[in-house]
Amino acid sequence: MFLSKYEEKVLSGYFGDKLAKLMKTLVKVGESLGARELVEVRHVHVSGVSIFNIGVSGAEFIRDLADSGLKFSVFTTANPYSVTYTDYLGREFGRELKELQDVVVSSLIKLGVNTFTCAPYYVRRPNKGEHLAWAESNAVLYANSLAGARTNREGGPLTLIAGILGRTYKAGVHLDENRQASVYAVIHRPSRVAEAAAAGYLLGVKVPTQVPYVRGLGGLPEEYLRAFLAAYGATSNSPLAVIEGITPDYERLGRKALEGGEKVGVDLSEVLSLLRKSAEEVTGRVLYVVGCPHLSTRELEYLVSRILGKLPEGVEMGNKELWLVTGTYVKVPKELEGKLSKRGVKVVRGACPVVSRLSALGVDYVITDSAKALHYLPKLAGVKVLLMDRGDLIKHFMGEVK
Ligand code: F3S
Repeated sequence: MFLSKYEEKVLSGYFGDKLAKLMKTLVKVGESLGARELVEVRHVHVSGVSIFNIGVSGAEFIRDLADSGLKFSVFTTANPYSVTYTDYLGREFGRELKELQDVVVSSLIKLGVNTFTCAPYYVRRPNKGEHLAWAESNAVLYANSLAGARTNREGGPLTLIAGILGRTYKAGVHLDENRQASVYAVIHRPSRVAEAAAAGYLLGVKVPTQVPYVRGLGGLPEEYLRAFLAAYGATSNSPLAVIEGITPDYERLGRKALEGGEKVGVDLSEVLSLLRKSAEEVTGRVLYVVGCPHLSTRELEYLVSRILGKLPEGVEMGNKELWLVTGTYVKVPKELEGKLSKRGVKVVRGACPVVSRLSALGVDYVITDSAKALHYLPKLAGVKVLLMDRGDLIKHFMGEVK
């Protein structure tokens, strides 16, 4: 691999053994993926933060890195952590896990992370053509497909290295030739956000590895596109979907797919088969989850005002609770939290319901507007899941419909 003079110096140990070791790992990974050089990155997004995913050895690795005195050299954000360790009756469980999770979070803060969210594009929106090293599939797809930035779907350890060295290997979708779409996908134009999410989910099943050129989403608001991409990232491995009329340079990137690529479609009946309007089948303790991926400040404010405007304080919510999930950068006044909690609503900041043990918290069923959560929650959180459009979900939570 060709290295700059500075990179050679790091590799040779001129700046110390710890940096040399990290550089050696990065170069090895890059060479194994065919990279000819490294590339400087402007923003790193770290994943592998939940203690349920990384376990004791992962927590110790991050702690040792932080204790070694190294720091991130570029702007770095991190994915959310596990939710809470108190069940519905207020009983604590898994104290050691909580302590380990705290170690992970404090170690990442020591390394230089100041925000925990899976929507890092709301903290710093990437620029077109900028190189990044991001983990977290929804964020990667947003960066590549909506902002025209360049990032592979990185793994947690590699993002830690990239954050410290400020570089990643130049391969995958950092290179022009790997950004060309090869499959032509026609999506039934969604009329609600949850339909866009369901379409993304279904497209990922049909196009699990290639880059698709997607027709049917042009001109839709960003919330539709974000829901589509988050769901697509759950069922596919692709870091990029070229969306007609949206993705920067979409005409150039889609030419090959339009001229002779395999053609796939997602029709309305498939989409509607994933969505529910009623929750008749739901039993037991129900958790409503909105914010997978994390809500923006604007979305959160809208939901809060809608709920406070309609739901009287102290109303009997029975077996249900609503989580509005967002990043740690979003500030929520204590007084507002109190008002919401009297209505069965919790603003969950910096955490991810999917990587938490919801079944251990006493949840039986989750109703969500996230097709990504629909995909992962049964496996990871041990609960049943129902997909509903956000508007229907809120009405249902507030008892306006059955
Ligand atoms: Fe974010 Fe967790 Fe969903 S990381 S996208 S809330 S699965």
